[in-house]
Amino acid sequence: MLSEDSNKLLTQVGPGTPMGELMRRYWQPIAAVSEFDDKPTKPVRVMGEDLVLYKDLSGNFGLVDRQCAHRRADLSYGFVEECGLRCNYHGWLFDHNGNCTQQPYEDTVAPEANLKGQVRLKAYPVEAKAGILWAYMGPQPVPLVPNWEPFTWDNGFVQVVTTTIPCNWFQCQENSIDPVHFEWMHSNWKVRLEGGKEPYAPTHLKVDFEEIDYGFVYKRILENTDETNPLWTIGRVCLWPNCLFTGGHFEWRVPVDDENTLSISWFYNRVPKDREPYKQNSIPHWEGPLEDPETGRWIDTHVMNQDFIAWVGQGTTADRTKEHLGMSDKGIAMIRKRFLDDLKRIEKGEDPKCIIRDEEQNKCLELPIVDKEAFVEGMTLEEIENAKVESRVSANRFVFQAGQPEHVRRAYEEAMGRKMADVDFVDKRKLNAAE
Ligand code: FES
Ligand SMILES: [Fe+2]
Repeated sequence: MLSEDSNKLLTQVGPGTPMGELMRRYWQPIAAVSEFDDKPTKPVRVMGEDLVLYKDLSGNFGLVDRQCAHRRADLSYGFVEECGLRCNYHGWLFDHNGNCTQQPYEDTVAPEANLKGQVRLKAYPVEAKAGILWAYMGPQPVPLVPNWEPFTWDNGFVQVVTTTIPCNWFQCQENSIDPVHFEWMHSNWKVRLEGGKEPYAPTHLKVDFEEIDYGFVYKRILENTDETNPLWTIGRVCLWPNCLFTGGHFEWRVPVDDENTLSISWFYNRVPKDREPYKQNSIPHWEGPLEDPETGRWIDTHVMNQDFIAWVGQGTTADRTKEHLGMSDKGIAMIRKRFLDDLKRIEKGEDPKCIIRDEEQNKCLELPIVDKEAFVEGMTLEEIENAKVESRVSANRFVFQAGQPEHVRRAYEEAMGRKMADVDFVDKRKLNAAE
């Protein structure tokens, strides 16, 4: 249980709030690079700030205030130039730093007055890495965009998936350190959703949590595993400050505002050895749906969609004054404490946890990874099909989120040199129901 004050402290991220100040010290993933292949601007809302992300004609990205500094027109309808974004109302042009570099009428009638020198637009740095656009909205000095180990892997098919979830970010992130929910929300619920009955999946006998440099690790022993199992010896990572890292994919939970969260995920599948060398020309992005239009209920057929149901179900912002933490929630208590401690650290002018400033270290930030060889060394197609690792599951169909577009599935099949399961999981259930 948390006090109402602590709950507010952890969940509110608008400008000027303590947690907002903390979260602004981390580069946040806010969109996919390939979203800008066919459009130059995108309105975005990040931590309660309305902004426009754009790619100019030189190929540089910028992130500026949504509203023009002149008379507040919507800059997401602006048009890009060689350098920067031009407002479509009176043509004022702003560069990536928010400087106003042209005021066409004023520059014509009173160039000597240099009125544009007095105008600035709020602007934040943007960097492209691993097919994702990252934004930094915090104070100087700007840290480095973390170069997580999987970003250095090659011969992989990568896809970026986004969905906006209508609830506060913190309950989404608490899910990143919640081992027991896998057993119920994913394994056992799936059995029932598919019309099956018990026996359920092997139950958890022991869980443990450990703080590491880049977050926290959770470990588990199930009925059918022991202390030699990599899920106990290595574990999975609650990556700091707002991500889950499972080995083959990352799931960030980025606050849109206090009531909405951008789920942005990065999935890596290594191609079979006989398909190497493989070079992906463009990392595809797709937006995953939340709701089943036929029933008006949340989609429950894919792993992350099931998580979304849990998060949204907890309320727009979970009321933690009414919760009762159990024995499996030790990790949740640990991350809350770490965030609250870090609020004090930043007040003293210190860096919070996991700010990366060292170029050498950032060449490759190594993470605990179960079945790492499968990702690093690769496997033959036969090994992939017989392996008991995540790569096999994803080889047959995309299990993580509903709505993978046909063109992404085809690109994946081409990269892997094999067909995926013919029917989507949703369709399969419908077929079962019809039989
Ligand atoms: S409102 Fe943008 S140039 Fe006038
Ligand atoms: Fe989950």
